Parts: sequence; structure tokens; C-alpha cells
Amino acid sequence: MSRDAILELGGWLLGFLTALLDPQGIWACTAAVEATVHRHLDDQLYYLAGRDPGLHAIILSIREEELAHLRYAEAQLPAPGPLLLLLRAMIAVATDCLIWLSTWGDSVRMARALKAAKLP
Ligand SMILES: [Fe+2]
Repeated sequence: MSRDAILELGGWLLGFLTALLDPQGIWACTAAVEATVHRHLDDQLYYLAGRDPGLHAIILSIREEELAHLRYAEAQLPAPGPLLLLLRAMIAVATDCLIWLSTWGDSVRMARALKAAKLP
């Protein structure tokens, strides 16, 4: 099974399992994935600033769209209980793992390098 097929299956399984929960579970899943992707896009924007204005503009527009998704999902979760917060944290970790797999760790290495570069 290819890496892309594993990632596709993982995404499908995540969506399917949270769909078995109530709508709050679906919104918690959506918010977790969107927040994780948003953080990943922020790293990319920081890296691209001053390096590739065209790609920076494209990623910025994608981030704006993803931010709208995140805000909408969080609006559906006005007072999440501990189980939803736990579910959201678990899904965020799973999403980070899928991003790591999709880049073979480049995303983590880039985030660490950017964090180190921000230090005085
Ligand atoms: Fe989205």
C-alpha cells in the first residue's frame, strides 16, 4: 500500500469514526484538523516571506479560507466538554502525524528551524 493510499485511508477513517459520534464530534474533528493545518500554513508563510512572493500570496489565500473553516467549526462548539476537548487533542495529534508522514518529517524540521531562527 502506497503512502498516499495510507494517508487517504487515515483521513477517511478519521472522518468516518467521528461521523459515528454526534454532530459535536464532527465539529470537534473539523476544528482540530483546521487548527493543525492553520499552524502548518503559518510555518510555510513565515518561511516564504521574502523568498517567494507569488507562493506566499497563494498560501495566504488558502490560510484565509482555512481560517474561515476553523472559525465556523469553533462557533459550532460554544462550550465543549472534557471529552470533546480530549477528542480534539487526539485528532490534532493524528493530523500532525499525517502531515509528518506526507512530508517525511520536513514539516517538523522546518518548524523547528523557524522556531530556532526566531530566538534572539
Ligand atoms: Fe478546511
